[in-house]
Formats: sequence, C-alpha cells, structure tokens
Amino acid sequence: MAFVVTENCIKCKFTDCVDVCPVDCFHQGPNFLVIDPDECIDCTLCEPECPANAIFAEDEVPEGQENFIELNAELSKLWPVITEVTKPLLDADEWNGKTGKLELLEK
Ligand code: SF4
Ligand code: F3S
Repeated sequence: MAFVVTENCIKCKFTDCVDVCPVDCFHQGPNFLVIDPDECIDCTLCEPECPANAIFAEDEVPEGQENFIELNAELSKLWPVITEVTKPLLDADEWNGKTGKLELLEK
C-alpha cells in the first residue's frame, strides 16, 4: 500500500507534507504534489500535516478520486523529488476545498 495525494492539493500545494516524510518520496509538478508508491513506507506522518486534507491511505481514498492512485504512480516517475517546504501557491487558501480541480492539473 501507499499514501496518495488527491484533488484538493491542486492549486494549493502547501508543501507541509514534505517536511515530515522520512523517505523523501514526494515529487513536485507545477501545481500539485504526488507520492511515489514504490518509495512510501506507510509511516502515516504526512496525512495530518496537510492543511488541505488531501492525503489519504490508498484504501481510504474518497469515492470518485480513485484515479489519483494511478496519477500518483504515473507522475512520480516524471516529476522531481521535493524535500523542502516552499511557499504555497498564490491564492492557495481560496482554492482550498474547491471541487473539480482535476481539469486544472498542470503536468
Ligand atoms: Fe512519506 Fe510516510 Fe507520507 Fe509515505 S506515509 S508519503 S513515507 S510521510
Ligand atoms: Fe499538497 Fe497538502 Fe502537501 S496541499 S503539497 S499534499 S501539504
């Protein structure tokens, strides 16, 4: 199993999650982060750190967001690792909680 970043990270990218990951398995795209499922050790530390509540265990991903499991696996192979907290995206607070953000995902 692995932990998965889901839709609410898109256009927020608070990055608090990367600070606690002991195995540096977060990868960064323009407006979203993903977890490499091959590296994640299920330590659970990142889940409570996300201000957007975007991180879930693979078997607890909310209904309708199951496609993010595959997206994390796919994009983590393409995007570089991020190990340090950065500033959230502009207007992250306004985007936090909005739905339908998948179509705004930049690759
Ligand atoms: Fe990293 Fe642990 Fe979160 Fe997996 S569960 S991404 S190992 S902090
Ligand atoms: Fe995204 Fe939450 Fe991390 S918004 S960057 S998963 S802290």
